[in-house]
Amino acid sequence: MNASTRLLILVTAALSVAAQQTPFAAPNQNGSPQWTVFHHPIKRVAVIGAGPAGLQAAAKLVEHNFSVRLFDRAPSPGGNWFYTDETPVREPYPDRPIDQGADVPGELPATRYYKEQEEGVSLEDRWKEHWQPRPVWDNLHTNSPKVITELPDVPYSADKPWVLSNHDIQRHVRAYASFHNLNANDYPTSSSAQPVTSYSTRVEKLEKLNDTQTWRLTLRKLERLPETGQIKAQWWTEEFDAIVAATGPYASPHVPNIAGIVDWSKVKDAGQYSVYHSQSYRRPERFQNKTILIVGASVSASEIARDIDPYAHRIIASIRPHDNLHPFQLRSLKRFPDTTEFVPEIAHFEPLAAHDRGIKDGVIRLINGTELHGIDEVIFATGYIRSNVFSMPDSGNTSTSDGEPENLHWTGHNISDPTLAYTNVRPWTIGKYQSYAFAKIWEGTAHLPTQKQMQEDYDNGKYRFRGLFGTKQSEGESLFRQYVAWLNNESLENGGRFVETWPIQNREVFVYYSNLEWVEGYSTLGNFTEFETLPASEWPSGKRDAAAWDAIVYDDQAW
Ligand SMILES: Cc1cc2nc3c(=O)[nH]c(=O)nc-3n(C[C@H](O)[C@H](O)[C@H](O)COP(=O)(O)OP(=O)(O)OC[C@H]3O[C@@H](n4cnc5c(N)ncnc54)[C@H](O)[C@@H]3O)c2cc1C
Ligand SMILES: NC(=O)c1ccc[n+]([C@@H]2O[C@H](COP(=O)([O-])OP(=O)(O)OC[C@H]3O[C@@H](n4cnc5c(N)ncnc54)[C@H](OP(=O)(O)O)[C@@H]3O)[C@@H](O)[C@H]2O)c1
Ligand SMILES: *[C@@H]1O[C@H](CO)[C@@H](O)[C@H](O)[C@H]1NC(C)=O
Ligand SMILES: *[C@@H]1O[C@H](CO)[C@@H](O)[C@H](O)[C@H]1NC(C)=O
Ligand SMILES: *[C@@H]1O[C@H](CO)[C@@H](O)[C@H](O)[C@H]1NC(C)=O
Ligand SMILES: *[C@@H]1O[C@H](CO)[C@@H](O)[C@H](O)[C@H]1NC(C)=O
Ligand SMILES: *[C@@H]1O[C@H](CO)[C@@H](O)[C@H](O)[C@H]1NC(C)=O
Ligand SMILES: *[C@@H]1O[C@H](CO)[C@@H](O)[C@H](O)[C@H]1NC(C)=O
Ligand SMILES: *[C@@H]1O[C@H](CO)[C@@H](O)[C@H](O)[C@H]1NC(C)=O
Ligand SMILES: *[C@@H]1O[C@H](CO)[C@@H](O)[C@H](O)[C@H]1NC(C)=O
Repeated sequence: MNASTRLLILVTAALSVAAQQTPFAAPNQNGSPQWTVFHHPIKRVAVIGAGPAGLQAAAKLVEHNFSVRLFDRAPSPGGNWFYTDETPVREPYPDRPIDQGADVPGELPATRYYKEQEEGVSLEDRWKEHWQPRPVWDNLHTNSPKVITELPDVPYSADKPWVLSNHDIQRHVRAYASFHNLNANDYPTSSSAQPVTSYSTRVEKLEKLNDTQTWRLTLRKLERLPETGQIKAQWWTEEFDAIVAATGPYASPHVPNIAGIVDWSKVKDAGQYSVYHSQSYRRPERFQNKTILIVGASVSASEIARDIDPYAHRIIASIRPHDNLHPFQLRSLKRFPDTTEFVPEIAHFEPLAAHDRGIKDGVIRLINGTELHGIDEVIFATGYIRSNVFSMPDSGNTSTSDGEPENLHWTGHNISDPTLAYTNVRPWTIGKYQSYAFAKIWEGTAHLPTQKQMQEDYDNGKYRFRGLFGTKQSEGESLFRQYVAWLNNESLENGGRFVETWPIQNREVFVYYSNLEWVEGYSTLGNFTEFETLPASEWPSGKRDAAAWDAIVYDDQAW
């Protein structure tokens, strides 16, 4: 096809778009649906979560003229990157997802005031339980280069290093929120408009109403009242046509169920727990001259070990053997301080004589029979589990064993009810495409396949998580570029602007970084060109369509 033929196709497409403005298409003539049709036009959308994923979804939906509300339980935007010195409420022993403790008054709206130690709960704990301070420490640096850890519209300055601190990322995400008028102190754009954002607001419950086919959110907002030293709680409900759940992958810390762990978890030394999850780690200074056992061999384990190394007396790491390590984990094994003593997995914690004198006299038995003595503190750097952070009555079991929501189309939409969508891609890189897809699908300029087709695709495992840079044909970059091709094809068919794919120079930087920092040979620039030879079965439509891809190439000239 020559350039002028392509141009002709685009012009024809543009004209047919103008002619075809009905947002919600009816079934075709023989009555069978061609794509998913919504019960009614989608106007009001709630976004739950103001981290890198939710902020982008909210900004894009606002741009597309939806009536948007953005809720986050935290007092400010940033998600995982809203660092504070406050530590999260303590993780449960034995292991289970943190109980969200929704306690909603019978009649709404409702207001309540809490005093210090009301029902035996301190104001501090009540506040922290509501918003859950983040599992991030002061000196944390990214394990992803800035080129894949950057939101649109607010580029880092060129002199920033490739590896950024937690504080740099926090400022960056806040800058994105401010740029889009989504920060905590931003005012509505007009005096009549309802504000988009509501911070310190936790979504307690999500219900689908039968008669209107709308979603009802039950919300709880906490406010600290410095004048009276009280906390004010308000509950109310709001209704929406569609929901974006952007609540993040790390809702709940995980601790292993090792024999004796519950007994040891009760121990305090000078008011501070001796056994705790890495989510509460903040600063290294108090580890002066201590003997620390770190459990785990992944990123939290190696990075906390490095942080405390200048202070600690001894660092012991309990790790499990592995054949198939992720590049992050290989990096971690290289990054433990040289002085780390590696030991096998823990078999059990022997019973303790007392619970108020620390664990230094306790005995930890390893699976090879060896005993460890004289440990001051145990840090479980044993990762996180995803948990459903708001309750959905009558929804049954909605997640897999690792807590991922089930039965989602690759766009993130719930196949049985695509007015509910989850952010399920790497937000930094593919988030902007997924956000655009949310807006297009709900405004009618992109179509979801029929439910039957979506279910078939899901059952065939056709679609996987998008946005990691595994560079095999079937993952990473090629899936990324399919997203772009699909969006542009939908715009070609149904209207809307084209989007560009990820810049080639970013790929080059990523290849340098991953070879230097992760694993030599992990990726080559060659890995990224395999998209063109991707089997047709991997395309969303089940066939390769040269016109859709060519259209991207000619975007600049034609539109
Ligand atoms: C210790 C640690 C280090 C990490 N380091 C890196 C790194 O170096 N590079 C990298 O790319 N990624 C890193 N990550 C992954 C991190 O999760 C992502 O970078 C990113 O923050 C994910 O964005 P998100 O918007 O999907 O989720 P989050 O940032 O987790 O945001 C989710 C938001 O949803 C809100 N929320 C949840 N439930 C409710 C509710 N019921 N009501 C209202 N609001 C709710 C939360 O308050 C939160 O603000 C790290 C994660 C951890 C835990
Ligand atoms: N930027 C940063 O510096 C930074 C810092 C922290 C976290 N993160 C990110 O946050 C996410 C979570 O990382 P994470 O390190 O907290 O968790 P993680 O990657 O899930 O690692 C958990 C570790 O705990 C180990 N483990 C679990 N149970 C164990 C047991 N009983 N005994 C010994 N080991 C056990 C696991 O080993 P198995 O593999 O054998 O299960 C694994 O090594 C990742 O995406 C990571 O990239 C980034
Ligand atoms: C949103 O509304 C404005 C004002 O009516 C309009 O100019 C703009 O094109 C709309 N945006 C989209 C993406 O439809
Ligand atoms: C909604 O409809 C379903 C099926 O028609 C029914 O089982 C359920 O009880 C209804 N729920 C409410 C709250 O009316
Ligand atoms: C450090 O700890 C060791 C062993 O517990 C102890 O012998 C030593 O006196 C401590 N040193 C300091 C400076 O506290
Ligand atoms: C068990 O592991 C520890 C730590 O690696 C080691 O010192 C010890 O010799 C091992 N014991 C046996 C019986 O292999
Ligand atoms: C998807 O929607 C169905 C129907 O409303 C619901 O039962 C199910 O729990 C939802 N699943 C998820 C992961 O949201
Ligand atoms: C939900 O189903 C998954 C997979 O079948 C299972 O692993 C998990 O334990 C179940 N969760 C609950 C809470 O029943
Ligand atoms: C990238 O390409 C190289 C060279 O063809 C290959 O050895 C390597 O396995 C590929 N990487 C991945 C992650 O597929
Ligand atoms: C583009 O969209 C049309 C209409 O939905 C569809 O027939 C075609 O297969 C799509 N092409 C690709 C590559 O997705």
